[in-house]
Amino acid sequence: MATAITVSAAPGESLRTHLRAATMAAHDLLDHAMQTASGWQTRDDYARFLSLQHAARAPLESWLAAHAPAELAPPPQTGLIARDLVQLGMPVPPPAPLFTIGRPGPGAALGMAWVLAGSALGNKAIAKQVARIGGGAWPTAFLGDDGAMAFWQDLRARIERPAAASEAEGATRAAEAVFAHFLGVAELGAELGAGTAESVPA
Ligand code: HEM
Repeated sequence: MATAITVSAAPGESLRTHLRAATMAAHDLLDHAMQTASGWQTRDDYARFLSLQHAARAPLESWLAAHAPAELAPPPQTGLIARDLVQLGMPVPPPAPLFTIGRPGPGAALGMAWVLAGSALGNKAIAKQVARIGGGAWPTAFLGDDGAMAFWQDLRARIERPAAASEAEGATRAAEAVFAHFLGVAELGAELGAGTAESVPA
């Protein structure tokens, strides 16, 4: 029998397990959308991938800076992405439109932090592929960010245990909102197509 996914955690379930289950379908959709929008098979694809990441993350980092306590604000990564883009000779894109989830309640910052910090796991896997495909010549300040991984390791203690119901619900809603935001940016990127990452004339 299929298990219904709700924003409420099952009794005794760790917050991490709950968040992963609740957003698994959204993560799969996003992974697929990002492969469609850019992927990272060529240098231009990789530049488009970084552009999407920058556009999507900029308003999320602003939200965290305004609403999250220091221990729930992952180290900003847009500066690292910009550095990679500049090294590739590509322009740094404008941020995606404002991200908002209304008045932040319990768990909101934690859910946001989980999505952004957890994405470092995927980035690690992508970094290996990028190193192989680019023959080690493509810049990976963002994908190989040790700061993100260190933040993730610290956050684990906070999420690998059950959370209060209100916190779990707030974290789930925030995490879903972040995935939806990223998906919107990826889908827009796919519509704009290959023309979005043009080399800056030397
Ligand atoms: C671009 C395509 C992406 C690929 C190929 C990818 C791949 C992965 C992989 C391999 C994992 C690790 C699974 C594991 O070790 O258990 C993972 C986990 C995760 N990724 Fe992604 N990912 C992608 C995009 C994203 C994006 C854009 C975000 C959010 C901004 C994201 C958020 C997460 C989260 C929250 C986790 C789970 C953390 C946890 O285990 O608690 N991913 N991803």
